[in-house]
This record gives sequence, C-alpha cells and structure tokens, in this order.
Amino acid sequence: MIKQQARADEQQTGTSRRHFFKMLAGSPLLAMAYPGLSPAWQREVDRVLARDQSASGRATRMVCADCGQAFQLPAMRPMRSSMPQAGAPQSPTPNALDVHLTGQLIDAPGDASNVWDFEAVAHANTLPQHWNYIHMGVDDFETRYANRAGYQRLSLRPKRLGPDVPKLDTSVSLFGKRWATPLFLCPVAALEAYHTEGESGAARAARARGVLQIQSHQSSQSYEAIAEARGEPHWFQLYANQDWDVNKRTIEKVAAAGCPVLVWTIDLIGGSNRELSRRSQGSEGYNRPLCQSCHNHQPGYQRPMHRGVQGPPGPRPAFDWDYVKRLKDAGKMKVVLKGIVTREDAELAVLHGADGVLVSNHGGRAENSLRGTIDSLPEVVAGVKGRVPVMFDSGVRRGADIFKALALGATAVGVGRPYVWGLGAFGQQGVDKVIALLLEEFTMVMRQARTATLAQIGPQSVMPGATPIMMRDNRQGFGL
Ligand code: FNR
Ligand code: LAC
Repeated sequence: MIKQQARADEQQTGTSRRHFFKMLAGSPLLAMAYPGLSPAWQREVDRVLARDQSASGRATRMVCADCGQAFQLPAMRPMRSSMPQAGAPQSPTPNALDVHLTGQLIDAPGDASNVWDFEAVAHANTLPQHWNYIHMGVDDFETRYANRAGYQRLSLRPKRLGPDVPKLDTSVSLFGKRWATPLFLCPVAALEAYHTEGESGAARAARARGVLQIQSHQSSQSYEAIAEARGEPHWFQLYANQDWDVNKRTIEKVAAAGCPVLVWTIDLIGGSNRELSRRSQGSEGYNRPLCQSCHNHQPGYQRPMHRGVQGPPGPRPAFDWDYVKRLKDAGKMKVVLKGIVTREDAELAVLHGADGVLVSNHGGRAENSLRGTIDSLPEVVAGVKGRVPVMFDSGVRRGADIFKALALGATAVGVGRPYVWGLGAFGQQGVDKVIALLLEEFTMVMRQARTATLAQIGPQSVMPGATPIMMRDNRQGFGL
C-alpha cells in the first residue's frame, strides 16, 4: 500500500511538474523569464513546447545553437511519430515526454541499463522531423523488425566449466591497425540534428573507448573538425556522384586529411521508400518552409544541414564494379563496400579489388528486403572466403548481437541509431555510455561462452533458434 501510495505521489508530482512547465511555456512572460531560467529548466520548457506543438500544431520556440538567437518555428502539422505496429492492439504508449516528466526517463547516462534508455530521452529531446528521420524504416518498417528478429532466432551455446578465462582480449586488426574492440560507429548523417556537439561529440567518446568511427558523407561537420576532435584520422563514407570530378575532389580532400579508409555506400543507388520522412518534410523535402525557417532563421545566415563534404542531392546513378578501382586509384586509400548482403556481390566485390565489405541493409532504410543482416552474413562470409575483412551492422542493440555476428564470421560490428540516441540524450557522455554498455554486455557473453579472444568465437558458439521473441514495445520505436 505504502509503495503504491509513494508511486501515486511520484506520478502526481510529475503531473503537476508537467502542468507547471506547460503553464510557463504558454505564458507571455516566457520571453522575459526564459533567459533567466537554469539550463535544465530551459530544456524542460523547450521539451514541453516541442512536444506540445507536435500535438497541437502550436508554434515552437527555438534557440539557435550556433548564434544563440531565439526564434519561433511555425506550427507543424501534428504527425504520427509512432511505429506502425502490424496487427497489435493500438493501446496508447506513454509519450516520451510524459514518461520523462513522470520520472520514468533516465536523467543521466549513468542511470541507463541498456541502449533503449537513451532512445527514450533522445525522442523527448528531438524535433519530430529529426526524430522521424532517424527512426524511420522503409515501406512498413518490416526490415527494421527483421534486423532484430534475426538475432532472436540465433541461440547462444555457453560453456560452463573449464580453466579460468584469463583477461579477455577483445582486440581486432583491421588494415594493419589494432582496435581495442570489434565495435565501430556507423556513418550517420547530420548528427547536429540530435546534439550541437554532433560528430565531434561522438568522435571524442569513440576515441576515449578506442572505437573506430566512420564519418557520413552527409555529416554536419567537416572531416578536419571531426579528426581534430578525435585527435587522429577516422574513416570516411562516400556517396558517389555521377560527376567524377566531384568524387575526385571529395576523395582527394579526405585523403589529404589523412583518411586511411574510404567506405563506399552502394545500397541506396536505386532509392528507398521513406514514408515517415516524407510525412515529416512534405514534398519539398529539406526546402520545406518549416525546415528552412529553422536552418535559415535570419537573413544571410544558413545553418547548414550538412557542413561536411556534402553528399550529392537527388538520385544517384548506377555504377558498375570497375568503379572500385577508380576510387582506389584516386585516393590511395583502402576501399570498403557498404551494403553487401549476398554471396554473389561479395564475390564480385573481392574480384574487383575491394579491400573489405560491410554487410548492411542501412538499418532497414534501403530496400524493404524483409531480411535481417544477420541472416545475410553467412552467405557473404562464404563468398569472401577469408580474403578481406567482413564488417557488419544493422539492428545491433545488445552485446549478444555483437557476439553472434562475430560467431557467424564478422570481423567488426557497427551500431548506428544507438550511439545517436546516446548523443541526442546526453551528448558525448551519452555516446560514451552506449559504447560502455554494449561492450560490458559483449564481454559478459564472451565469459559465459568461455571465449578469451575473438578468434575463439565461432559457429560452435551459436545455433539456429526458434521463432523470434519480440519482447520490446515498438509502438514508439522503443525496441528496434
Ligand atoms: C544512416 N546510415 C547511413 N549510412 C551511410 O552509409 N551514410 C549515411 O550518411 C547514413 N546516414 C544514416 C542516417 C540515419 C539517421 C540512420 C539511422 C542511418 C546507415 C548506418 O550507417 C548504418 O548502416 C545503420 O544505421 C545501422 O543500423 P542501426 O544500428 O541504425 O539499426
Ligand atoms: C540515410 C542516408 C543519408 O540513411 O544514408 O538517410
């Protein structure tokens, strides 16, 4: 009884706190009071405003992270930000802000138990348009579900007793450089949409944990700025343009900055059906008044969406396999092909000189294949036959997922959304904690399987399981 009463009191406090912020947010005094509020209170007011306006279409007050000027966003059409949940009863799930103000969202990275704790906070912190961009899948999101279901169809085969497992060695070598762990941060576009630290915040966290980072061609920040934040060159992901000179300039620029590896993403060349993004941006895409009124909030000023080496607008042309050699010759860097999911393409990639392949379906944002990348991995590994590294990503959320990918032959395993959730929730500290949680979970599975090195993890460590057991509630996407 006491516990229930305490719970009720806690919720009551949360509710009145929420009403207080709504009152403050709606008050004409806000413009005067706002600058005097503490940063935490300003954040809460902004959250209430951002969340309210997406529900009621009211204008949202924004403060530019670059110039510090406050401005109003025009009302945005209320939009669905929840996942299409095939077949499940549509019971309302608490909106992340409600959950936060009733004290159910974490308030600090150290409070997190898993990567999804960061998703809920990032969801509350992020403008709905930016949230929909990271959250979306293609068509009805089935491939995002397939990415998770794949790991849940793969069982672990632990070993119980035996000589003590010495200090674990989780290191892996990639193109002559030793990495402390097999985990890497995938290229994700426009990270300043989630936190003003952007790619540099992620770079500082990744470097501190000895984790490889791949910059997106559509990044918010330049190669040089990110490399400076990291303190060493990182990898660069390229979207090839139909104009070779544009590609050549990009490649020479990052090569001159010390980039050792070029990751050519080839899984979007035909396009992808991204309804949630279209719903957010409307037919004008980024040029929609709503986007421009924020990115262009004062005359003669444009807060760029992509400050790095901008990716090509519009559809990308079909390329054939001899382009691999052109890219290698242009930059004298290693070239990894990102988006390989079949044996035939893996064999062709190696045949045409690729120095590595990255098994990926773009986190379920390319074609709606309905196939998880963990299901594609074995045939790609069979096609590569150990000749080049096989990197892997999409749907990785647990240390056990990392372990399973390594058991099926991956050399390194990447995460996309999870580290961006960490960034969106708490900046660099959030990214740091996401990396730490994944590696803690991963080393625990290594110990349960009595594997002291990555080389000891193999097909014997896993076995095909039953049908997937989707445990997490995906209505707000908290679980994909
Ligand atoms: C991406 N991804 C991506 N990939 C790429 O090669 N260049 C890019 O610019 C981007 N941008 C991007 C933006 C957002 C918001 C997301 C979610 C993803 C794909 C990314 O590199 C990676 O393949 C997936 O994110 C991995 O899946 P998970 O971990 O997000 O499920
Ligand atoms: C995306 C592109 C930028 O997934 O890779 O949005």
